[in-house]
Amino acid sequence: MNHHIKDINLAPQGLKRIRWSENEMPVLRLVRERFEKEKPLAGYRLSACLHVTTETANLLRTLKAGGADVVVCASNPLSTQDDVTAALVKEYGISVFAIKGEDHETYYKHIHAAIAHKPQITMDDGADLVSVIHKEYHELIPQVLGSMEETTTGVIRLRAMAEDGALKFPVIAVNDAMTKYLFDNRYGTGQSTIDGILRATGMLLAGKNFVIAGYGWCGKGVAMRARGMASQVIVTEVDPIRAIEAVLDGYRVMPMAEAARIGDIFVTLTGDIHVLRKEHFALMKDGAIIANSGHFNVEINLDELSAMSKAKNKDVRAFVDEYVQADGRRLYVLGEGRLINLAAAEGHPAAVMDMSFATQALTTEFVIKNAKKLEAKVYNVPRDIENWIATLKLKSMGITIDELTAEQKKYLSSWEMGT
Ligand code: ADE
Repeated sequence: MNHHIKDINLAPQGLKRIRWSENEMPVLRLVRERFEKEKPLAGYRLSACLHVTTETANLLRTLKAGGADVVVCASNPLSTQDDVTAALVKEYGISVFAIKGEDHETYYKHIHAAIAHKPQITMDDGADLVSVIHKEYHELIPQVLGSMEETTTGVIRLRAMAEDGALKFPVIAVNDAMTKYLFDNRYGTGQSTIDGILRATGMLLAGKNFVIAGYGWCGKGVAMRARGMASQVIVTEVDPIRAIEAVLDGYRVMPMAEAARIGDIFVTLTGDIHVLRKEHFALMKDGAIIANSGHFNVEINLDELSAMSKAKNKDVRAFVDEYVQADGRRLYVLGEGRLINLAAAEGHPAAVMDMSFATQALTTEFVIKNAKKLEAKVYNVPRDIENWIATLKLKSMGITIDELTAEQKKYLSSWEMGT
């Protein structure tokens, strides 16, 4: 079996951690048990480009249990858990191309290695596989039945491709399923971003001015949790509706040029480029902490920060680089501006990834079953998959809910009745 990983001897630790996260992934376990019996993915080659974590390992095991021939590469150079890659290769017989801290060239080598598997199904977190296949592997396109996309940034890229007429096979926007974004983006990013900042800095959050750029589902989650840690939360936005939402949720909203002067901690979660740049760094206080939790490392303009700094001290603490300014102010960038929740912590907790990855697995089955009907478009996850996952998640939590009475059902489907 083909692989490129850090150290196969890390497998025992990876296995223990994969099993630990499985305890919190009951819905995915049910999918796996059915897949083992029914083999709905039998014989299909599947290449995945995902953050290689314990939770992803449980997804890959599920896809393999369904009969797929699975290969995985990293979707970010810093998010790989090396013990997990070892366990995937040694214990689960899955080909892995991922090493934490890999350089840009290795990152792309690994993507090409995953494509060399000649996938019929692809799974992306950020659309890198789909993008490289479309740019460099035209001959593979006719055999790809479809692709799943895990993250907001990837869906934005794919919709842009579809709009341009460049998309050549069907894509399912797993990110846009309610069983994904309502929980993974909000509660997952909320907790794991705070976790990453705490592991990297060990700082007290109470009383700090915590600036959040972007009030999408991820920004909402971080704001909620930062407030829970007694930070003074400030939100910056470009969208007027989201800005009102943030105000009515009880946060201060202001332009970054104002927030830059007073922030102690900055986190970007916008999906856009250069949200923090020269004019903001120039205003920041001595000791300001700067982190990103958006998918790509483009939100903080590190080239500008480097150019304006008189010195850069790498790793003043693990995952912390110090940029010293001409006037002596020190600015601290966490995790090289890459997503801090996966760079310095372990990503989202398994209990939310359970729903995201059950959605991925069931959508893969849907693509195979419906391949003939699907066109080269971006599709949403079918509603019955979302409902099934939500119902089972509630069940696993021991929570029951009410059902509509016959009278209520009738009322909801009739238009005649008013007050
Ligand atoms: N994205 C965010 N957290 C993750 C995790 N724990 N595993 C895989 N992808 C993730």
